[in-house]
Amino acid sequence: MLDKVKELLKQTEEFRAETIEEVEAYRIKLLGSKGELKRLFAEFKNVAAEDKKEFGALLNQLKNKAQKRVDELKDSLHQTEGSNNLKDFDFTRPVYTSELGSRHPISIVRNQIIDIFSRIGFMVSEGPEIEDDWHNFTALNFPPEHPARDMQDTFFVAKDPDIALRTHTSSVQVRVMENSEPPIRTISPGRVYRNEAISARAHCFFHQIEGLYIDKDVSFADLKQTLLYFAKEVFGEETKIRLRPSYFPFTEPSAEMDVSCSICSGKGCNVCKYTGYLEILGCGMVDPNVLENCGIDSEIYSGFAFGMGVERITQLKYNINDLRLYSENDKAFLDQFKSSI
Ligand code: PHE
Repeated sequence: MLDKVKELLKQTEEFRAETIEEVEAYRIKLLGSKGELKRLFAEFKNVAAEDKKEFGALLNQLKNKAQKRVDELKDSLHQTEGSNNLKDFDFTRPVYTSELGSRHPISIVRNQIIDIFSRIGFMVSEGPEIEDDWHNFTALNFPPEHPARDMQDTFFVAKDPDIALRTHTSSVQVRVMENSEPPIRTISPGRVYRNEAISARAHCFFHQIEGLYIDKDVSFADLKQTLLYFAKEVFGEETKIRLRPSYFPFTEPSAEMDVSCSICSGKGCNVCKYTGYLEILGCGMVDPNVLENCGIDSEIYSGFAFGMGVERITQLKYNINDLRLYSENDKAFLDQFKSSI
């Protein structure tokens, strides 16, 4: 029995083949489910006790060697057969077209919004997602311990509470005001973070576009005109806007802006909860304190600011009712935006 195994070991070492089929036939004969090895393993119980150890070791050696040899031969034959096949390859055959992807709906809408504001002279500015307390909160009139911070709880770095993931892109506006002279006309698109339980209506990250306009004699009327222009560009010429008084630490006065419901044209439906209007952004006149914090003379300059969630605008444009869809990478969802540029 031992001799039989030794003989097979020798054969394995010497085995050569010209084609993959030969290798496969050899593999089946030796390693297949009805192959020699299987039979030899079954013989194990009949081997004399003193030979069992050697027999077992040899069998394992045979098994490993044979598998290795088969793999090696297949590999090298695949390579040579592959290059031989090239001779017969029909280069005129049409290629397999690779599937074209689509832009993410958030990117589509973000680009549209950027385009709308660029047309009236707004530049795009960007800043870090990991922010310090000053740029995200304190410069914007949220002193430490101010209750307005609760509405924008976020993710802090345990080692250094001064560092956090930004809760809005207003932090970018602070950076722009600190580093440039009015007139300033800029929008800040970007990802922001909040400590929210994830649901259809809330997520721990989302995208914003905030706008800032600082110059001499900028008034609330300028803010309204700018936002009306924006609303009509995004939702259509018939769109109406409505401003409701609100509160933000960094604007005074502050307002929430609604647009007439683009689904029912303001008549009332379940999307606008029968109010005819949909809330889309926050806005207001920049608080003089904020201007001073950023080195701008509030006696000379005034300005307005606004901020919107891109997910929200996208939801209204495409009727997407679950925020989680944006980040699940579901191909069936993303494929629906294929025709969009
Ligand atoms: N930063 C505010 C937010 O994230 C939005 C906003 C920006 C409101 C500018 C008013 C003016 O909620």
